[in-house]
Amino acid sequence: MSEAKNIILVGFMGSGKSVVGRVLARLTGSSMVDADAELVRKAGRPISQIFQEDGEPAFRELERSVIRDLCSQSGKVIAAGGGSFVDQDNRNLMLANGQVVCLSARPETILQRISRSQGNEKQVGNAPVRPLLAGDDPLRRIKELLAQRAESYAQADYTVETDELTPEQVADKVLELCRAAEKVPEI
Ligand code: S3P
Repeated sequence: MSEAKNIILVGFMGSGKSVVGRVLARLTGSSMVDADAELVRKAGRPISQIFQEDGEPAFRELERSVIRDLCSQSGKVIAAGGGSFVDQDNRNLMLANGQVVCLSARPETILQRISRSQGNEKQVGNAPVRPLLAGDDPLRRIKELLAQRAESYAQADYTVETDELTPEQVADKVLELCRAAEKVPEI
């Protein structure tokens, strides 16, 4: 019997990957792995500190090794970091080892959600949870990065627009899409 495929959530910061991932894990009875949390555990430092001390290329290298590890597993719900699917090697690995669902949201929704998440469990001291959005015009930065990444995100197997949905509703949609894709056609 073939092993259960992973469900891999990709998409921009604040699109709800971690929250939806937890709901999906509960609904499917599988375990959820958060790639950023794995990376922080492996590095022994928070993401903001890795960016600050070693720079983004070093962070991306670590991210690639975490994605390689996670993609060698099966039957998991994986919440990937927002930039990981931009890397071609990561993208190929994820598409080959799971059903990849991109969660999308409007820039304004993203800004609202990430402003709320300052101070959550990902925050360490006063460091920004998401160093790529630090600065005085985060909305402009979100729009720029979304434009740069649009082509990569479009390569996911499916996209779910999340603006008007609760995490539970998003998770239901993700499951519906994944289950429909796995259905063997009747002969
Ligand atoms: C990043 C997204 C973050 C984290 C890092 C870089 C990105 O993850 O990996 O700050 O490049 O979009 P989340 O999408 O979980 O916030």
